[in-house]
Amino acid sequence: MKFRSIKGTKDILPEETGRWQHVEKVVRSVMGRSNYREIRTPIFEETALFARSIGELTDIVTKEMYTFADRSGDSLTLKPEGTASVLRAALQHNLTEQAPLLKLYYQGPMFRQERPQAGRLRQFHQFGAEALGSPSPQLDVEIILLPLHVYRELGVRPLTLVINSVGCEKCRPAYREQLIAMLMTVYDQLSPESQARVKQNPLRVLDSKDDQDRKVTQTAPLIKDHLCMECKTHFDHVQSLLHATGAPFTVDGRLVRGLDYYTKTAFEITSSALGSQDALAGGGRYDLLVEELGGKSTPGVGFAAGLERLMIVLEKTGAPVDDQRGPDLFIAAVDEASRRWAFTRTEELRRKGFAVETDFLQRSLKSQMREANRQRARWVLVIGEKELKAGTAQLKNMLGGEERTVTLNDLESALA
Ligand code: HAM
Repeated sequence: MKFRSIKGTKDILPEETGRWQHVEKVVRSVMGRSNYREIRTPIFEETALFARSIGELTDIVTKEMYTFADRSGDSLTLKPEGTASVLRAALQHNLTEQAPLLKLYYQGPMFRQERPQAGRLRQFHQFGAEALGSPSPQLDVEIILLPLHVYRELGVRPLTLVINSVGCEKCRPAYREQLIAMLMTVYDQLSPESQARVKQNPLRVLDSKDDQDRKVTQTAPLIKDHLCMECKTHFDHVQSLLHATGAPFTVDGRLVRGLDYYTKTAFEITSSALGSQDALAGGGRYDLLVEELGGKSTPGVGFAAGLERLMIVLEKTGAPVDDQRGPDLFIAAVDEASRRWAFTRTEELRRKGFAVETDFLQRSLKSQMREANRQRARWVLVIGEKELKAGTAQLKNMLGGEERTVTLNDLESALA
């Protein structure tokens, strides 16, 4: 019987990991330059943490979590997103007490039992950031620009940035009542999914992808037109700062994200190179979440971006990414004594910092040369009885083809 990977999971093969490592390096560099420090949280957490933060009635919590009881009967969940875990860790270790503004970033796997399709997996990877401690719209814009910097450095274009404000606990309840009243007038024409949402999560009806839903809700009131003074001023500031930084964006009053913790700013970055799952990144402000998780009232804002979707876009549109390079040197050996010499020299040169490979399959010289070529080795050194006796050998450049004689005792200077 042959085993296969679980539906919705994906092996990242050696031919792809070069690209992944490059992207991870760019993420680290962008985050470092904006003074975000890395945090790594466990893969699983107490189930209640996600129900409490993402929202009991969201699709993620009701339908998509990998939840299981461990042997002691505790309910655990593989993390479906990073924000809840990062906040839990920040509170547990008093990180918000130690810094008035805490800026953290993360990269890692997340798990959601969704219907797999292109760009939608059950184990996928995100990079993201969370900033805790400031209500300033400048921080919203810093967060929005972080993934855009990463995409720019990777040569990903074109992108669409859409923003909205989802209001706060002061302005949302009255708006929600108005929206429900409007939705009740078209209730019969809504899709079953939207009908179910009318009472529980009416804002989500507005970003339904169903054409009929969108048509009958065309005249629905939008939260951005019903913001309280504080939310409106904040949203105006975010827009004027985005203008000032030169980042193109549009306002979409229907943008409501699938997680309940947002207040004020919500945003999404999409790419037309993706199919129906076109969101590359999303995020927003969550000024009530820290308190909701038992901490002192602390404003926060953050984003997360999908890595698999980014890889799809990079493949389709991005600038070519430097793949892992081949060895500096391949030592080809033709008999037992030279194979022994090749092996010990290989280990010695590796210790000195060179990437070196040799033959482990007792292959013919011709097939060793082919292998060196396949591995994209920069140099090849051919060793046999004659070379060992003379203490010199031919070093062949696999790119230019030129050869030179080198002393075997001083390969380092020839390679450097
Ligand atoms: P999210 O919109 O659920 O937000 O996910 C962010 C990104 O993760 C999406 O835009 C998408 O690129 C990727 N993603 C989500 N689900 C999948 C999937 N099943 N397969 C592949 N990629 C996926 C959050 O997770 C929030 N924690 C973002 C945030 C951070 N808000 C504030 N701070």
